[in-house]
Amino acid sequence: MQVVSGIQPTGNLHLGNYLGAIRNWVKMQDDIGDDGQCLFFLADLHAISQPHDPAELKRTTLEMTAALVACGVDPSRSILFNQAQVPAHAELQWLLSGTARMGWLNRMTQWKDKAGKNREGQSIALFTYPVLQAADVLLYQATHVPVGEDQKQHLELARDIAQKFNNDFASEDAPIFTLPDPYIPPEAARIMSLRDGSAKMSKSDPSEMSRINLTDDADTIMKKVKKAKTDPEPLPSELEGLEDRPEALNLVGIYAALAGQEKSQVVSDFGGQGFGAFKPALGELLVESFAPITERFRELMQDREALDAILAQGAAKAREKSTPTLDAAYKALGLVRG
Ligand code: TYM
Repeated sequence: MQVVSGIQPTGNLHLGNYLGAIRNWVKMQDDIGDDGQCLFFLADLHAISQPHDPAELKRTTLEMTAALVACGVDPSRSILFNQAQVPAHAELQWLLSGTARMGWLNRMTQWKDKAGKNREGQSIALFTYPVLQAADVLLYQATHVPVGEDQKQHLELARDIAQKFNNDFASEDAPIFTLPDPYIPPEAARIMSLRDGSAKMSKSDPSEMSRINLTDDADTIMKKVKKAKTDPEPLPSELEGLEDRPEALNLVGIYAALAGQEKSQVVSDFGGQGFGAFKPALGELLVESFAPITERFRELMQDREALDAILAQGAAKAREKSTPTLDAAYKALGLVRG
């Protein structure tokens, strides 16, 4: 098993990132034992695809490193690094760019959403972003990629690129790239905004009230949950009763994911009660779940040198791991290197 995944170090780590991805990274790391290796990285090269402030990117890269370690990513067992320290990511992206097709990239929903009506004004990096993402995982022969639902299409593209590259440039019995599988447990694959049950919870949402951040204190968490959009009906006792109630379903889903219960169990426990009772219970569960992580995050942020050292050590290991595949890709393309 080669487990590989990344997160953009922009903004704060929020509940959607945590439940949709990071919690699964930690579970996979804890279960993998001698059966393989986990590599987790800060996608800082991806972060420059949109307007950004360099000083802020530097700061948030360290903050996200601390957040991941606070969530349980263990740099002594997993390889934790930032892309910018491993040039093989950018190199492989270019090598794959001869294989990826404009039509494939044009179909990416994230590109369409982020570019909106102003495609001509977007950076080339935003358009070719999924090719870099393919390089991220193919470089390490990833077998499993734990992500939220919104990244599924990018991973399907990574498979298409790998397949075409193997077909065009490798023999059938010695493929260059492994086809990666997305790993998306259904429980928290898509956590929605607290303000709108039809939009995913996201760092780019202008409203702070739409998401819960790892760095929020207990009062802020309680306030955000209490103000979360809901409807006037009490909770049903059966899951079917949540159809067409996206905001209520989202809150029940968050409760279930944090409590390690089925959603049906949550509605059976809270059925008949209004949000006046359910929201404080959810808020407390959130505070309880995040408190130890937040405390650890604050401690880690006290020692920036230690965070730099974690990334430097992770990058050295990642550079070593990436070399055979990068070399094989250059060779397969007929490129002669010194
Ligand atoms: P990013 O930084 O937007 O998000 C990091 C991870 O969090 C998941 N996620 C969610 N899951 C459930 N509900 C939500 N509301 C929610 N919001 C975010 C994302 O699915 C992701 O798993 N392009 C990627 C970073 C990346 C990457 C990679 C991931 C770069 N290279 C290679 C995997 C493999 C991104 O922007 O994720």
